[in-house]
Amino acid sequence: MAQEYTKVARTDEVPPGGMKQVEIGGEVVALINVGGDICAIGGECTHAGGLLAEGYLEGESVECPLHGASFNVKTGDAETPPADEAVPLYQVKVEGSDILIARP
Ligand code: FES
Repeated sequence: MAQEYTKVARTDEVPPGGMKQVEIGGEVVALINVGGDICAIGGECTHAGGLLAEGYLEGESVECPLHGASFNVKTGDAETPPADEAVPLYQVKVEGSDILIARP
């Protein structure tokens, strides 16, 4: 079945090094621009729900603002405790100046 992509933001809202929180079907998603590459991962930390788009981007890792767990923005994997469960990874498509994502 073809993936269903939904427009969630414009590229100028997520400049390189920037993050933006969006929602798709009631799920919180963090859009992250790593060196011009837009990534989309689940926006809620699997430890206690910290909002990752409000955290800190360091290379390809985003650190949760609450207790410092970090997640890989390209895979969603948990890299640093206290989180040990990955966040979902969304498919991303850029069309012109639109950012579209599809659920995993
Ligand atoms: S809620 Fe993210 S590290 Fe605790």
